Amino acid sequence: MADAVFVGMPKRLVGVNIDGREIEVVEGSTILDACRRLTIDTPTLCQLDNLTPVNVCRVCVVEVEGSRVLVPACSRKVEAGMKIRTDSERVRHSRRLVLELLASSVDMSLCSAQVQGWMSQYGAQPERFGAEAATVAQPVKVDNDLYVRDYSRCILCYKCVEACGVDAQNTFAIGVAGRGFDAHISTEFDTPLPDSACVYCGNCIGVCPTGALMFKSEHDMRAEGTWDEGLRGGVHARAARAGQHDRESHLAAGQQRHRGAPLREGAVWV
Ligand code: SF4
Ligand code: FES
Repeated sequence: MADAVFVGMPKRLVGVNIDGREIEVVEGSTILDACRRLTIDTPTLCQLDNLTPVNVCRVCVVEVEGSRVLVPACSRKVEAGMKIRTDSERVRHSRRLVLELLASSVDMSLCSAQVQGWMSQYGAQPERFGAEAATVAQPVKVDNDLYVRDYSRCILCYKCVEACGVDAQNTFAIGVAGRGFDAHISTEFDTPLPDSACVYCGNCIGVCPTGALMFKSEHDMRAEGTWDEGLRGGVHARAARAGQHDRESHLAAGQQRHRGAPLREGAVWV
């Protein structure tokens, strides 16, 4: 007889009340998980199911009875008896303001239709801050044949940093540098991408929700007017394939460059 395999302790169910509806979810679930079970549309920008929550965008906030402040649904775990409100005036106001502040300072025009939908659903009017509102507008960084970095589109969601780091690639080629409004994604010492620890895995591009990180092939096709958003999947695959050949030669060059070097030498940064 085969040996018994321990598959973990059974998990309790936790009962919570969301917008007046009772639901039981497995302990350890987030409020966002519970909202999704009830098909309550909850905006998220920095959350991705396979990334560790970083709680930076705060667009997912909800009201929890007894809590002084709004809490991020994407990371706050459910507790038995929690009473949660996802559509109060306070929640709507906060989500609207987050979207407005982001869209007034960042070019979010390439965000998904879902994000654009949240903008209109919450009545976000980023233009109300006026034409003089500070922005992160800056020239596009094109320093290699594969990836383009357009940080005027960056909402600092940290997804690329996490995908480059412990959540996926463990390369740590990029992170957040600076503080406050000057906070920005950067390679170590702002070195050009080909000289950084980047191995061109493409994970950062895959997770970027705003088009701040993009295959150069897609960037060029958009510039030429040959990018077809309606055929995004197919065209994206072609663009990715077009980049694949270049990627392989870059990787070979990169591996040569790093061969024999101590692991990620010089790639530790703040
Ligand atoms: S570059 Fe993209 S993935 Fe990275 S922080 Fe900015 S918006 Fe997020
Ligand atoms: S999605 Fe919850 S804080 Fe960003």
